[in-house]
Amino acid sequence: MNRITVPIALDERSYDIHIGSGLLADPNSWQGLPRAAAAVIVTNDAVAPLYLEALRSQLQAHYGRVDAVVLKDGEQHKGWASLNQICDHLLAQACDRKTVLFALGGGVIGDMTGFAAAIYMRGVPFVQVPTTLLSQVDSSVGGKTAINHPLGKNMIGAFYQPVRVIADLDTLDTLPQRELSAGLAEVIKYGPIADAEFLTWIELNIDALMARDKSALAHAVKRSCEIKAWVVGQDEREQGLRAILNFGHTFGHAIETGLGYGEWLHGEAVGCGMVLAADLSARAGLMPADFVERMQRIVERAGLPTVAPKLGLERYLQLMRVDKKSEGGAIRFVLIEALGRAGMHSVDDALVAQVLEAHCG
Ligand code: NAD
Ligand code: GLY
Repeated sequence: MNRITVPIALDERSYDIHIGSGLLADPNSWQGLPRAAAAVIVTNDAVAPLYLEALRSQLQAHYGRVDAVVLKDGEQHKGWASLNQICDHLLAQACDRKTVLFALGGGVIGDMTGFAAAIYMRGVPFVQVPTTLLSQVDSSVGGKTAINHPLGKNMIGAFYQPVRVIADLDTLDTLPQRELSAGLAEVIKYGPIADAEFLTWIELNIDALMARDKSALAHAVKRSCEIKAWVVGQDEREQGLRAILNFGHTFGHAIETGLGYGEWLHGEAVGCGMVLAADLSARAGLMPADFVERMQRIVERAGLPTVAPKLGLERYLQLMRVDKKSEGGAIRFVLIEALGRAGMHSVDDALVAQVLEAHCG
């Protein structure tokens, strides 16, 4: 399969996303990166046995020293302790400000490594090497980096762009099915918010995607990255448009935080959150009722939950007020206004109550 390149146009912070099979072992993937005395690969104890040595052996051709920081796996470890572990290593090894960090893993590793790169010596370059579908279609692209806080998801972080993204589709071969489904949630998201035809394509190809057909996956990753590049290119720091990428995330983050990080996968919470946000779009009079059924059906076919946990209305509202899109305590939702177009809306709590009543089990 040929290498597909999707550019992210952000002036001096521009970079390319490379998508294809066999990219990890292809020397072309690593040429032209910033030079430095040392490279540091940040990964976790689930991904390291699978791909650490393959990446390390490639990077040894370019850097005098290639270290690895292996963190504990899991969303529950996306916090200060893991971030400190990265910074401790960088300082203990006297890494200078040219040191290049490589994030090898899913969105948890990518978000934490990016944040470490943003703050270590006020900024060192980093490369995203996403190994989950979710990180290939979303989290590795666009420069949002963060750790979680017990009171709110991704609440401590920075906008900081990588210098390159290498999305090797072959790494998806080892991904558990539940994680593949979680990634599909973010793929599905791009349809209703930006590209009605893509939603139809996903509906026609969902079985191939679930079966990990490489050409279907390549198209899904490419189109998702193109849409994200288009959005981020216009609104890097989420002053407006970029918020549409959070369709389903207001309910989703509440589910994740409310249940405790790691209970539901991020993509599962987003999948279910999209069904609730679709229903809210309908109840707010923006979309017809059959849109809700359509979203429910595609989320189900992607192997994702569509019944939200019963946290209670007050708890949901409390959690959703901590969302980054809130303004002055008012919750703001990304709602679908027409297929392929989304916008930010504040709605009456009574409508939210109806949605939760209809979808919590
Ligand atoms: P993850 O990073 O926890 O990875 C999922 C699981 O798969 C982990 O157990 C991981 O170790 C394992 N894994 C990774 N690659 C593997 C492979 N190739 N084979 C086998 N196992 C593998 O989760 P995720 O879904 O990739 O990312 C979720 C995170 O991304 C959340 O913290 C979310 O907040 C964040 N996120 C960030 C952005 C952003 O714009 N920065 C966007 C979306 C999501
Ligand atoms: N995943 C949301 C964003 O990157 O803005």
